[in-house]
Amino acid sequence: MELEDCAFPLVRRILRTSSADEAFAGANWGLLVGAVPRREGMERRDLLRINGGIFTTQGQAIAANAADDVRVLVVGNPCNTNCLIAAANAPGVPRERWFAMTMLDENRGRSQLAARARVAVEEVRDLAIWGNHSSTQFPDAYHATISGRPAPEVIRDEDWLQEDFVRIVQQRGAEIIKARGQSSAASAANAVIDTVRRIAQPTGELFSAAVPAPLRGGYDVPDGLVFGYPLRAAAPGQVEIVQGIEHEPWAQAKIDRTRDELLEEREAVKDLIP
Ligand code: LMR
Repeated sequence: MELEDCAFPLVRRILRTSSADEAFAGANWGLLVGAVPRREGMERRDLLRINGGIFTTQGQAIAANAADDVRVLVVGNPCNTNCLIAAANAPGVPRERWFAMTMLDENRGRSQLAARARVAVEEVRDLAIWGNHSSTQFPDAYHATISGRPAPEVIRDEDWLQEDFVRIVQQRGAEIIKARGQSSAASAANAVIDTVRRIAQPTGELFSAAVPAPLRGGYDVPDGLVFGYPLRAAAPGQVEIVQGIEHEPWAQAKIDRTRDELLEEREAVKDLIP
């Protein structure tokens, strides 16, 4: 009912169905939001065994029914590894069509940097989220810009940028659950819209999403792991990982930590990956 009440100009028909085959028939975009949400005290990876199975059948249904140009954004948690499962179960859908959502973390981080620098949020750009959408993610303030200047030149507080800022963004999902008794809803939905826009309507700006790591240009992340990167859309739907970013050893250690967590998650669901 509320979808109807939004009067979205592009909505032609709303189909309610419990059949994944029917839901994905002819779909150009699949937004995989359906999953058991996290509760207070849980980490997202605690949902692996609960939710992982859902994504095998969704991947199969997408491969069998969606349009030839389908693109998929996985939101249900743990979204990186759920995306890995769905993509592995969708033979024939090229790997560059798969995304897991880290835009919510980017938006959270941009708001935090803006508040700290006392500027409007649109002044904060180029904030990449590396790795897992989890409490190990690495939001990289060092390559972000504020009003066109490197963020560390504007916020001259290394401890805050390297530790507090990272922790605030990593823990924001848990803070929302504590405050609301439920996981984020409006900000997550908003981040879905932001992600699809960035992919479908390129602005040339850097944005964050997790994608299957490529053989080359994936910053040494093992092939196929769904890893958060700084991305840029060169043309509608054509997304590239931004190359040439160098990290200080402390930052690289955080990236290694989130990569290792994703490897552990992959190991835990290896029976769901054909
Ligand atoms: C979020 O980051 O708010 C969502 O992914 C929900 C969660 O479990 O944290």
